[in-house]
Amino acid sequence: MTAETKVHGDVAVITLNNPPVNGLGYATRVAIAEGIDRANADPAVKAIVITGAGKAFSGGADIKEFGSPKATAEPNLLSLILACENSTKPVVAAIHSVAMGGGLELSLGCHYRIAAPGANIALPEVKLGLIPGAGGTQRLPRVLGVEPALNMIVSGEPVKSEMLAQLPGQKLFDKMASSPESLLEETIAFARSVADVRPLPLVRNLPSKHPQGDAYFQFARNMVKGMAKNFPAPAKCVDAVEASTKKKFDEGMGYEREIFTALMFTPESRALRHLFMAERAASKIADVPEDTKQRQISNVAVIGAGTMGGGISMNFLNAGIPVTILEMKQEALDRGIATIRKNYESQVKRGKLKQDKYEQRMALLKTTLSYEEIKDADLVIEAVFEEMGVKQKVFETLDGLMKKDAILASNTSTLDLNKIAAFTKRPGDVVGLHFFSPANVMKLLEVVRGDKTGKDVMATVMSLAKKIKKTAVVSGVTDGFIGNRMIEQYSRQAGFLLDEGATPQQVDKAIEKFGFAMGPFRMGDLAGNDIGWAIRKRRAQERPNMLYSRTADKLCELGRFGQKTGAGWYDYQAGKRDAIPSKLVEDMVVQHRESLGITPRKIADEEIVQRLVFALVNEGARILEEGIAARAGDIDMVYITGYGFPIHRGGPMLYADQVGLFNVVHAMKRFATNPHDDAKFWEPAPLLLKLAQEGKTFN
Ligand code: NAI
Repeated sequence: MTAETKVHGDVAVITLNNPPVNGLGYATRVAIAEGIDRANADPAVKAIVITGAGKAFSGGADIKEFGSPKATAEPNLLSLILACENSTKPVVAAIHSVAMGGGLELSLGCHYRIAAPGANIALPEVKLGLIPGAGGTQRLPRVLGVEPALNMIVSGEPVKSEMLAQLPGQKLFDKMASSPESLLEETIAFARSVADVRPLPLVRNLPSKHPQGDAYFQFARNMVKGMAKNFPAPAKCVDAVEASTKKKFDEGMGYEREIFTALMFTPESRALRHLFMAERAASKIADVPEDTKQRQISNVAVIGAGTMGGGISMNFLNAGIPVTILEMKQEALDRGIATIRKNYESQVKRGKLKQDKYEQRMALLKTTLSYEEIKDADLVIEAVFEEMGVKQKVFETLDGLMKKDAILASNTSTLDLNKIAAFTKRPGDVVGLHFFSPANVMKLLEVVRGDKTGKDVMATVMSLAKKIKKTAVVSGVTDGFIGNRMIEQYSRQAGFLLDEGATPQQVDKAIEKFGFAMGPFRMGDLAGNDIGWAIRKRRAQERPNMLYSRTADKLCELGRFGQKTGAGWYDYQAGKRDAIPSKLVEDMVVQHRESLGITPRKIADEEIVQRLVFALVNEGARILEEGIAARAGDIDMVYITGYGFPIHRGGPMLYADQVGLFNVVHAMKRFATNPHDDAKFWEPAPLLLKLAQEGKTFN
């Protein structure tokens, strides 16, 4: 049942019932249209109420139908809204909880709207790179006034119903119900009271105008330009709302449709819709059913109060879950706790956290030097030094001590999780929880599934990730997991580019212009170049034949670890973070280039971007092929939420799809002929080659 019609005396009530948020999918639209027809044909019915069952009036389009023919099959949303307008008996929307996108647009086609307090009202289409496409841009200004309507449409943010009801002159709500519980009863009474009023009021007949006219829209355009430089949709919202003030209603509707359809085909909208779906898909694991029984996580222990341990702990404290941190020495504990306090205090100072909340959070935190005190934790997360020997001791100790059914997690960023699990007699309880630095800020959490990790453990940590507001992506066991394994190839290309003639600032600028938050060299200086150095040293032993530029090692040999040492790829002034191009580094790069006998050449920004990004793509394709990542969208989520990949490009794999895989392969073949690059690496991954040959895409 997707919508049900019941007659209450002389009022027909159509109740949307398409969980979770009454999305306006095909079957639901059919059922609503039928309900309206039947009510119109029934002589006993004098008025019609539309409302939603459960947690929403309607959340808008049904995301399960995104991109399928069902999404636009008749009656499409526009036709359904017309059916409401054309009803010969008054139609009243009873709005509670959520009225968003198409849901709000449907209500705007009704003759009257009654809202319960606390309802979230929004036109969020801009967040998918679109504008509202079923009259939102033409009707909302007519009921709210141009300015508040445009603010809602450009931001896509929800506004509470009671706030909107207070806007002077608003006609969005004819009445506020006194409570969500009494909404239906009050709406039925209202419907009865207006049953005989004619003509039926239509939003389309109201005027839309702004007292400042053109000047206002000029101002709005300038505002929007500054806000959304990589996205076309916000400016189009202004155009569409302006049209509501200048064109006849039906012409405005046609204009809205034209813009909506054009935006549908922009790479930016495709990227945003892809990420919206990818985020939802990433939380699902094919062989772990949604109803898998989960373990209870009521308290957590963290081992190591360093950079990561402190940040990791904060996530749980923020979610109200008690944490005990264990360290080897009191000084280390004191230092770790001081950092946590400093972080919270700066949030309090900036008005982001209330003092009492801060105190509540700190009250959930305990510290200890003794394993005895953590043995009853439901989940323990190890964040000690990145050395197998140290991890071995920790996991052997945990194995002998932790209660049955405790989950034992490691935050290792590169070590073999299967080996770590094998240090215990309970490898099914071991999982990788790879947080990113700063762990209290970064959204990404790579959940590393070992060969033996239990399904219930996977289900538990995936839902725990949601609780602590992380975007969890599952990775199989491989050196560097999804994100760092790919970044190695990106960094290698950055090094080769220096050897061939580029400067660090040229490489950084080119990729930042592409949209990355930070180029590879500025990033290295921020994260600490010594971290990569240590990893390269280990990998050099495991993979002695791997080609890479030695420039980064030479930099580290000079002690230039980055911002923390006041010098790295760039120079830094004390207390400042501005990257100043360094003469010393430039000379070092030139000398190294000469020692390799390379004649420098001028490298175009386009080549820089392609080599860095396609390196990610080729390694990503291998990761996909090996089953390390389940979906191309998972890889894109990793790069968007963990590595600053530009959102408007939708992640490396979607970007490759948009460029065209044939073109990507073609470029790789060209790079393979470069004598100073790694020809073997540029052999396209078999999956990539196959998709390109078949004219297919990753997504
Ligand atoms: P860190 O050096 O800042 O902190 C490690 C802490 O562990 C130190 O406070 C140390 O006293 C403590 N420790 C060492 N051995 C211990 C033991 N046996 N028992 C109790 N405490 C012990 O290191 P960081 O950066 O926090 O890294 C920790 C782990 O997180 C490593 O496995 C690292 O690869 C991983 N990681 C680091 C990231 C980063 O950006 N720093 C990002 C993601 C993961």
